[in-house]
Amino acid sequence: MSPEQIDWVIDAYTRGIVADEQMSALAMAILLNGMNRAEIARWTAAMIASGERMNFDSLSRPTADKHSTGGVGDKITLPLAPLVAACGAAVPQLSGRGLGHTGGTLDKLESIPGWRALLSNEEMLNVLDTTGAVICAAGDGLAPADKKLYALRDVTGTVEAIPLIASSIMSKKIAEGTGSLVLDVKVGSGAFMKNIEDARELASTMVALGTDSGVKTIALLTDMSTPLGLTAGNALEVRESVEVLAGGGPADVVELTIALAQEMLTAAGIKDADPAKALADGSAMDVWRRMISAQGGDPDAALPVAREQHVVTASASGVLTRLDAYAVGVGAWRLGAGRARKEDPVQAGAGIELHAKPGDTVTAGQPLMTLHTDTPEKFDYALASLEGCYDVAPAGTAFTANPIVLD
Ligand code: URA
Repeated sequence: MSPEQIDWVIDAYTRGIVADEQMSALAMAILLNGMNRAEIARWTAAMIASGERMNFDSLSRPTADKHSTGGVGDKITLPLAPLVAACGAAVPQLSGRGLGHTGGTLDKLESIPGWRALLSNEEMLNVLDTTGAVICAAGDGLAPADKKLYALRDVTGTVEAIPLIASSIMSKKIAEGTGSLVLDVKVGSGAFMKNIEDARELASTMVALGTDSGVKTIALLTDMSTPLGLTAGNALEVRESVEVLAGGGPADVVELTIALAQEMLTAAGIKDADPAKALADGSAMDVWRRMISAQGGDPDAALPVAREQHVVTASASGVLTRLDAYAVGVGAWRLGAGRARKEDPVQAGAGIELHAKPGDTVTAGQPLMTLHTDTPEKFDYALASLEGCYDVAPAGTAFTANPIVLD
């Protein structure tokens, strides 16, 4: 496509002149045929130009943002944003909602009583300035072409196209005005990119888009073959995030949070910060509490708990060698943690709590996971997705876990 054709179609689609049917045909053509780098760059620029651009020049601290391409149990933004703020950067974190089997940061935080995702640009800047971090929804004025196109792609089987994912994510991040950006590109069954070659292509496309727009952009490829941490589901993941901020929490969540924090601080030009110390000494927790309160939430309120639980037990004794992220994500989604259509509500308490992770020794009959829901008629539907989702090898079998950061 010529630059003029791209500018025209994005503008005409945003203004309702090009119909959804026409745009979905173009999205499918892009999914099938790909786009070259020049087309992707122009497409991204046109989506940025469809709306307003934010500006954080008035802040005294350097800005650093992070974006994950989506996974199961991926609650990292929750401890990460206050942690990086506690280490000296300003973190403007525009986040999304879950769709399909992947969770969304805003859905998770909305399980905290009173917390508000929708802020005006002024409110966003104010929370960022006073607490050092803000996690909120992108306003209507930011990349409106992406809002329309993403909703259309979601219902036309055109989400998983590298040019469309890269331009969707980067248009929002560049329009947001962050000085630096760390991308957490997930690889594995629970991610959009199932193999490392595709993930690397997505990562390098996004890094090039950011760099060419003057945003210092770095990408990590990280493992999403098994869920992150021990929980998948909104309130369950908030509880686990608070454990991390209190200096505890599962080792994989802590490791990835610290690795991403270090990248963000380096990208923001902040030297000599110690994210592990900021988790241990409570300074990240202090920012979390201020950030949640500034958005109307009560950091001390009890989190919602689902009305019904069902325990899945291990079928054999030995070493757990596989626990599939996609199956657990679909299970949590079916229990009510996610939505099937954009306008559906989510259940705050629904989801899956894991009692073992790959590498752990298990005994036949011991609890392997607990399913939580307010709608127990969904248990069978969720259990169907969990069929065959784990392997147990004889005791003593050597097992090496994938590293969290693959590259
Ligand atoms: N996240 C986005 O914002 N856009 C995509 O296309 C995929 C993930």
